[in-house]
Amino acid sequence: MGRTSPMVTFFFVLLVATAVLGDDPYRFLTWNITYGDIWPMGVKQQGILINGQFPGPQIEAVTNDNVIINVFNSLPEPFLISWNGIQQRRNSWQDGVYGTNCPIPPGRNFTYVMQFKDQIGSFFYFPSLAFHKAAGGFGGIRVLSRPLIPVPFPPPAGDFTLLVGDWYKANHSTLKYVLDSGRDLASPDGVLINGRGSDGNTFTVDQGRTYRFRICNVGLATSLNIRIQGHTMKLVEVEGSHTLQNIYSSLDVHLAQCYSVLITADQPALDYYIVVSTRFTSTVLTTTATLHYSNSAGRPVGAPPGGPTIQIDWSLNQARSIRWNLTASGPRPNPQGSYHYGLVNTTRTIRLANSAPVINGKQRYAVNSVSFIPADTPLKVADFYKIPGVFSLGSIPDNPTFGGGYLQTSVMAANFRDYVEIVFENYENTMQSWHIDGYSFWIVGLDGGQWSAASRKNYNLRDAVARCTVQVYPKSWSAIYMPLDNVGMWNIRSEHWARQYLGQQFYLRVYSPANSWRDENPIPRNAFLCGRASGRRTRPL
Ligand SMILES: *[C@@H]1O[C@H](CO)[C@@H](O)[C@H](O)[C@H]1NC(C)=O
Ligand SMILES: *[C@@H]1O[C@H](CO)[C@@H](O)[C@H](O)[C@H]1NC(C)=O
Ligand SMILES: *[C@@H]1O[C@H](CO)[C@@H](O)[C@H](O)[C@H]1NC(C)=O
Ligand SMILES: *[C@@H]1O[C@H](CO)[C@@H](O)[C@H](O)[C@H]1NC(C)=O
Ligand SMILES: *[C@@H]1O[C@H](CO)[C@@H](O)[C@H](O)[C@H]1NC(C)=O
Repeated sequence: MGRTSPMVTFFFVLLVATAVLGDDPYRFLTWNITYGDIWPMGVKQQGILINGQFPGPQIEAVTNDNVIINVFNSLPEPFLISWNGIQQRRNSWQDGVYGTNCPIPPGRNFTYVMQFKDQIGSFFYFPSLAFHKAAGGFGGIRVLSRPLIPVPFPPPAGDFTLLVGDWYKANHSTLKYVLDSGRDLASPDGVLINGRGSDGNTFTVDQGRTYRFRICNVGLATSLNIRIQGHTMKLVEVEGSHTLQNIYSSLDVHLAQCYSVLITADQPALDYYIVVSTRFTSTVLTTTATLHYSNSAGRPVGAPPGGPTIQIDWSLNQARSIRWNLTASGPRPNPQGSYHYGLVNTTRTIRLANSAPVINGKQRYAVNSVSFIPADTPLKVADFYKIPGVFSLGSIPDNPTFGGGYLQTSVMAANFRDYVEIVFENYENTMQSWHIDGYSFWIVGLDGGQWSAASRKNYNLRDAVARCTVQVYPKSWSAIYMPLDNVGMWNIRSEHWARQYLGQQFYLRVYSPANSWRDENPIPRNAFLCGRASGRRTRPL
């Protein structure tokens, strides 16, 4: 073999340079966060608006886009936004949760610099501090496939987002006050679709054409069921995974989950009810929107169709029917199934049990008996500057203890490149929903009763769906496989927002001893510094 020609070397260098600098497109957004009056349930409330909008503007992006959002906090209090399902590869600095970022002070702005690396699909953003999420400040995120990457269904005639969620008439400060005083919240007052109550939304379709509906549960407390009078839904995508295209007449959407379905306007030219109702609640809250055929002869006929209410097995069976399409492409041209997640041996098992302890006379929520409390400095920032005494690794056990609850700034240590099995064990009689920042994981099993090593025999190691939020049914367990390929400080949390607020969350510190910028970005130059990091410098320009 002769020496590599200079020309080949030149092209190689060019290729590497391009890969490093990245010629992926940039999208610049400027957001102004304000309080403003909203009337979602007919009563005036103080909402959190983004550029005057409730819900906030939708983020439209393509795989690998750089999304730069300059957020001006015009609220009289600290504020942060987090991006549910956006993986922030090597970059938990942009995650926008209490443990990774100093809050944006009132009257100041912070520019999130994100890349939607190797992602497609439907996600949402939300305000992560205090109980702000109860006031709005959320919006949809859609990440489209790059041109030339095959999408396993024809381009739809339209692409609608439905942010569905339960809602309280009380404002976020009142709700926070109730929780701070050690009481639990009452049931929500209603259900909203895109920030509006019954009859508040109309989605116009042309007869004979097929539309994509992206449905995310942005609510605080309840699982929801969605259905469309006279129509079926073909499931095509779940939080960035293309699924087997099963047909459903109604779909359960648990807290913080997102689904894409295709709906064909194949019925007589009328209007039809879109119905969203609460699941597993003693009082069923329902709201409707309208599917309007552009040539419609009139209002919907009959009553809005009913749906499942307390049936758990129905929901469990539906969850198990949601599978990965192994031959479809995801964000890359190769098929999703070319990553054989089930053939890799896991290196660690973490079992997490939720509980509802009373601590110091106050209602709290816990994971493995630990109820998370914030420290005076974001954990990621303390870690970066090696500030001692903010948190300690191993402050939450790997297994349930079944002991009494205690307060702790809980951080679990984990090694970069480990391949973990996590089992969420729910010994309570309520529905749980768990989210992990920075990752997508395979849901290998869900079942009733108590998990044991023997439960592994029934895992789906072939075509389980990869997503970022998993539900756990009452007195049941859900198991996931997750490759720890993203260094950072990552929030693992209940998506039941009162539980999250009262401590049912912790941080997973995925650590690489290489301490290299190849594995993790350094602190952003524009990061705010607070707590015990106040007065430090980020890095030179
Ligand atoms: C944000 O909106 C408020 C209220 O409309 C306005 O007073 C303020 O100047 C705006 N700030 C920015 C940065 O646009
Ligand atoms: C605040 O916005 C200005 C532009 O208006 C920008 O130059 C600056 O970098 C932003 N600050 C932060 C911390 O991102
Ligand atoms: C929230 O509601 C409480 C009780 O109705 C009221 O006293 C308070 O002023 C409200 N706060 C805001 C910010 O609207
Ligand atoms: C899986 O995706 C392929 C496209 O690669 C598509 O042709 C096929 O219909 C899908 N299969 C199912 C069962 O949805
Ligand atoms: C996984 O573990 C089993 C049993 O220890 C072993 O036989 C197998 O070779 C391992 N597979 C891989 C891919 O490492």
